[in-house]
Amino acid sequence: MKLSIFDDYADLSYQVARIIYEQVRSKPGSVICLASGDTPLLAYNLFTVLLKHTPVVSPHFTLVGLDEWIGISPENKGSCSYFLHRNIIDPLLLPPEQVRLFNAMTPDPEQECRLMDEFIQSKGGIDLMIVGIGMNGHIGFNEPGVSPGLRSHVIALDETTRTVGQKYFTGAATLTKGITLGLKYLLEAKTAVLFASGEGKAPIVKAALEGEINTGVPASLMRKHPGGRVMLDRRAASLLTPGT
Ligand code: PGA
Repeated sequence: MKLSIFDDYADLSYQVARIIYEQVRSKPGSVICLASGDTPLLAYNLFTVLLKHTPVVSPHFTLVGLDEWIGISPENKGSCSYFLHRNIIDPLLLPPEQVRLFNAMTPDPEQECRLMDEFIQSKGGIDLMIVGIGMNGHIGFNEPGVSPGLRSHVIALDETTRTVGQKYFTGAATLTKGITLGLKYLLEAKTAVLFASGEGKAPIVKAALEGEINTGVPASLMRKHPGGRVMLDRRAASLLTPGT
């Protein structure tokens, strides 16, 4: 795993956008898994700008959504699906066959997990995963204590996730379960980028990078990834021990 620290959110976001762009440029059929959330907003916007201004690079990649809130419809502005449509899929006019998001409204979420796994397998696995870190150290909805061997799965949300997650919704949302790609995908992805911004993330970033590697802090598993990159702005890195 490689750690990089950038001056601020804008610089960090640009570097992440470049990584996604280079992936698409160097391998047009790439399978890219993207998280939603506040952190990746600018990176995705910059990525779409980079692509649009380089007509020679066509957006011929497959986008897989990392996770979704069970029972929240894609029309809800707080859903991961809405976020990815607004910030990536719609600006780039990605056709439906290049997009696979979890259907969190399905009456059979276990079947939905199987379908997602089959889809990813049919594409030959994930080339690049871009993820954030939750205030409890989660990645996607891989909550503390999750088994590291899981692929797609449904999980009861941690108290922190249920509380923090309200920030994405305009009214109070009932957040109880999530559907998510598991840590096995993260560890198997050819490249995995975890990025974080702001001092609010500094304590959990420190725990992930300097504490024990176990799923008590799921993001600590990034340290086992040979193709893993952790990218931080100075504020998110502010509590790290020099030399980490
Ligand atoms: P955030 O979410 O980017 O909104 O901070 C990160 C996460 O929960 O993974």
